[in-house]
Amino acid sequence: MGPVPGAEGPLDRVGMTPPPLSPAQERQARTFIQANLPLREVPGTGLRLHLAAPGSGLRRLVPPGRSPYWAHVWPGGLALAQHIAQGNLAGPLEDARPETWDVGAGSGLAGLAAARAGLSVVALDSDPLALVALQLNAEANGLTIQTRLAGFPTTPVVPDGRPALLLAGDVFYDAKVAARATACFDAQPGSVTVLVGDIGRSYLPRHRLERLSRHAVRDVGDPPSMPSHDGWVYRWARLPTRKGAPRGALPDEPA
Ligand SMILES: C[S@@+](CC[C@H](N)C(=O)[O-])C[C@H]1O[C@@H](n2cnc3c(N)ncnc32)[C@H](O)[C@@H]1O
Repeated sequence: MGPVPGAEGPLDRVGMTPPPLSPAQERQARTFIQANLPLREVPGTGLRLHLAAPGSGLRRLVPPGRSPYWAHVWPGGLALAQHIAQGNLAGPLEDARPETWDVGAGSGLAGLAAARAGLSVVALDSDPLALVALQLNAEANGLTIQTRLAGFPTTPVVPDGRPALLLAGDVFYDAKVAARATACFDAQPGSVTVLVGDIGRSYLPRHRLERLSRHAVRDVGDPPSMPSHDGWVYRWARLPTRKGAPRGALPDEPA
């Protein structure tokens, strides 16, 4: 089987969202993932995911130049999933039953943890193959999750005043992706809580983040002998509003 044709295209060029898969391509991708990416337990989450293994032969599914991010456990998503599985949403946030959005969802690990906690979840990614994997992962865990093929939304995910939770695992690995994620987070009204999971990637804007919880996590490709990393869950800090300051301006920027 060759790569899924509808999934070809400049996906790794940030902001380009390829067309959705046809039903036949989707079936082909589902069959491939079920046959070649075994279900594995994800530590500290109670969840199982279809993950790449030696011999998965992902290049038979994913076109050259594209990255199957969805086939791996990313430490930022893992930190978020563990944060949620440990009951850290309990209290006013969970009581408000926020609609939950997992953006740049990949395998959907963080969103699935939120679904397991009883929240209603929409997971979005710009990679159509990620959405296929995500649905299979939801089914494998007996969970329901909505999926959308989309870039990071730069408008509010819910009408102002309605509570929502926005989850973003490992989205600061590339300057352009980081800029889009930042624009997305800053576009959200005060009723949206944005939680970020990260191990300190190059483009992580530390000055915008408030630490919530720490988790021992492994990075993709780490050899087993390597010590674990600190995976942090952060809350995205709102910019102070100043009269006349444009939305999104940093505090030390001239208005
Ligand atoms: C490093 S992976 C992390 C996946 C997942 N959040 C996790 O923690 O396991 C980054 C994800 O962001 C997605 N992504 C990159 N640029 C995007 C964009 N502009 N809009 C939506 N998703 C994007 C990729 O397809 C990929 O699934």
